[in-house]
Amino acid sequence: MITERNVPSGSATPSTWRGRLAAFGLLLGSVMATDAIAQTPPPPTWSTADMPSQKGRIFLVTGGTSGMGFEDAKALASSGARVVIAARNPQRGREAIDRIKQDVPDAQVQFEAVDLADLSSVRDLGKRLGATLPRLDGLINNAAIMAPPERGTSVDGLEMQFATNYAGHFVLTAELLPLLRKSDAPRVVTLSSIAIHRGSINLDDLQSTGAYVPMATYAQSKLACLMFAFELQRRSEAGGWGIQSMAAHPGVAVTELVARGPGLDSEQGRQWSSNRAHLQTAAMGAISTLYAATAPTAQGGVYYGPTGPNEIAGPLGVATVPAVARDAATAARLWDLTEEITGTRFPTRGR
Ligand SMILES: NC(=O)c1ccc[n+]([C@@H]2O[C@H](COP(=O)([O-])OP(=O)(O)OC[C@H]3O[C@@H](n4cnc5c(N)ncnc54)[C@H](OP(=O)(O)O)[C@@H]3O)[C@@H](O)[C@H]2O)c1
Repeated sequence: MITERNVPSGSATPSTWRGRLAAFGLLLGSVMATDAIAQTPPPPTWSTADMPSQKGRIFLVTGGTSGMGFEDAKALASSGARVVIAARNPQRGREAIDRIKQDVPDAQVQFEAVDLADLSSVRDLGKRLGATLPRLDGLINNAAIMAPPERGTSVDGLEMQFATNYAGHFVLTAELLPLLRKSDAPRVVTLSSIAIHRGSINLDDLQSTGAYVPMATYAQSKLACLMFAFELQRRSEAGGWGIQSMAAHPGVAVTELVARGPGLDSEQGRQWSSNRAHLQTAAMGAISTLYAATAPTAQGGVYYGPTGPNEIAGPLGVATVPAVARDAATAARLWDLTEEITGTRFPTRGR
């Protein structure tokens, strides 16, 4: 299993590794759009040391048992927040809490089991939290799977990446909306990926039934996540929900995502393994999310990520948004379709 802890230190010069990162970016098909985004950029060197105290605030992090979600949970707990980690496996949940408590002995952290690829499990989690939490200040829609070689389907019959990465979070956010609205400054941060730059949204085949290309299906799910984040901000503004909705991506970080997706023996896994010394650690990859979730200067409707070559690593900034993700009409259509597919409806505008 790969974590940032066993990444070998690289000996390449900066120019060599920048070249390798660029090559890796091209491998991923991360061709960046050139459209400038008129947003206030975050401080490029922002780090967890700049995070304001989160004492008294309550966060839910999906997929907090490994990778960036674990780092999010640890940093939030370290700054005084109460953190709920939601993922599938209670054993991994216990291990994550133990690891956090090694570094943060007084951490207020709990595990809640949820399978995002089972909408009844997502609704159960929403009900449990609704009955036990006084409010929710931050929801981090982080959990994901990437590019399983064969097309799988969820309990609800949805394509597995669409279900886990996007539809499960859509329903979870709707379920938790009442709890979020009890906060005086609620935020929802949804994770996307540089993979979106080679993706597209096929509203006629969201379940990839026509053809299953693993990375293209992953890219579509993460594009849907980005469009969801922007549409949630628009609907929150129109409906007076008071929620700020941001998006973030980590660049490319050493986590369990490749090993548990295409596998380390795949061509993609071999390329990833040979470059991993030059990638972000999970802690570095978590910075954009933590900024979006906690910084007073973070803005709803903005997409944060690293700004180095191909946005794989580098200083924090505003991430490149592909044109389709700025298309409000397509985002609204995707939202409506998702409500139909999942049977979960958000309040209509104005309520
Ligand atoms: N790593 C990268 O380079 C990279 C690049 C771009 C974007 N991202 C994004 O960053 C986010 C975090 O990914 P990561 O790299 O940290 O991955 P990771 O180490 O594989 O962690 C994924 C997490 O998701 C959870 N999860 C998976 N399926 C689930 C399900 N059905 N229900 C509930 N939880 C589930 C896993 O928990 P259990 O297995 O314990 O349930 C695990 O905690 C993802 O949104 C990913 O798309 C990552």
